[in-house]
Amino acid sequence: MTRAEFKRRRSQLMRMMGKDAIAIIPTSPERLRNRDVHYPFRPDSDFYYMTGFDEPEAVAVLIPGRKTAEYILFCRQRDPEREQWDGRRAGQEGAIRDFDADDSFPIEDLDDILPRMLEQCERVYYAMGCDPDLDHRMSEWIAKVRSRSRSGIQGPFEFIAVDHYMHDMRLYKSRSEIATMRKAARISAAAHRQLMQRCRPGMQEYQLQADFEHACASKGATRQAYPAIVGGGNNACILHYIENNARLEEGDLVLVDAGCELDCYASDITRTFPVSGKFSEPQRLLYQLVLDAQHAAIDAVRPGNSWHAPHETAVKVLTRGLVKLGLLKGQPAQLVRKEAYSKFYMHKTGHWLGMDVHDVGDYKVDGEWRMLEPGMVLTIEPGLYIPEGMRGVAKKWQGIGIRIEDDVLVTKEGHDVLTSDAPKEVDEIEALMA
Ligand code: GLY
Ligand code: MN
Ligand code: MN
Repeated sequence: MTRAEFKRRRSQLMRMMGKDAIAIIPTSPERLRNRDVHYPFRPDSDFYYMTGFDEPEAVAVLIPGRKTAEYILFCRQRDPEREQWDGRRAGQEGAIRDFDADDSFPIEDLDDILPRMLEQCERVYYAMGCDPDLDHRMSEWIAKVRSRSRSGIQGPFEFIAVDHYMHDMRLYKSRSEIATMRKAARISAAAHRQLMQRCRPGMQEYQLQADFEHACASKGATRQAYPAIVGGGNNACILHYIENNARLEEGDLVLVDAGCELDCYASDITRTFPVSGKFSEPQRLLYQLVLDAQHAAIDAVRPGNSWHAPHETAVKVLTRGLVKLGLLKGQPAQLVRKEAYSKFYMHKTGHWLGMDVHDVGDYKVDGEWRMLEPGMVLTIEPGLYIPEGMRGVAKKWQGIGIRIEDDVLVTKEGHDVLTSDAPKEVDEIEALMA
């Protein structure tokens, strides 16, 4: 992402805010993992979207129309001794020189400086409820401003959820965001392909996870967008299975839901394939049904269709197929209305995708499902899950969990599957694994 793009985003938000307003946008806090070890730091998505700044302990402040400085970045001071231990810091000079801040102050000065900025504004754009510590300080700053009301200082009287504005911006991906997401998608797709080639009965689930992460990291995608799910056989029926510590058995399927993150953009791919390279008959029948549902759902991704259209399409195809296979009994249309499929398919067909894997943006507008528009990216991920011991289901179907997930960009003409390099047709998978 270029500096010009971050600047455009700040300008866009400031235009929406108007004069006499202030936006306060913090990055994520660093979190302790155990004793004195932190989780690897990852900047807050909204903060990074606006700044491109990836150090912890930073707060961006936007004051549209302010003469001296509209964009102020609070961040850590340079400190040669700390930097020798913990790594480089931009400091105030770097914030201005490399990140286009109009002005920058040490993060320690926030409590002194911010109340003075607040007292000059009528409206405060701030995302309440994300960081309890900062929420608390915010109330203290406001109280400080109010305590001076007798000296004629009025201070802000309107509080607006800034996240709502940023999330609407983030829903529509720019050309360079799409380029980054395509790159992330390709890296993940190639890694999935590699797993199919490497998988053998007797391997452990975590070995596939390790292979996946290695394949991504060696292409520069050193972070995963979420913890990988690698579930062999019956484990694939646990939707968020992340133990990944069982042996992969001959004759089972394995479900791999894994995607790298690149420059803070996520990819999210699921592939399900036979551990030993060949689908059994019941596995193939169920797999082909999920694949048919996925193709149909992807076809429903186009401008003018609602967000919900792919899901409605997927459950129709799945229900008809489940009736055909004898797993559901009755009239398909009626079964869809009664959501009879939910016994085997209990999640939705997708979600927005972007800087966060379950990305921001409203799914409904004025109570109606949102219309798809060019630049939006979503996943299409139907599945079927039939755990061992499920009552009323023939034994041959049990212990099979299948999901097929791709990342789909809405284009003017329809859609573009960003993850199409990851094989998913039955013949393709069997040929690759042979
Ligand atoms: N990997 C999380 C999801 O598919 O939604
Ligand atoms: Mn997903
Ligand atoms: Mn996924």
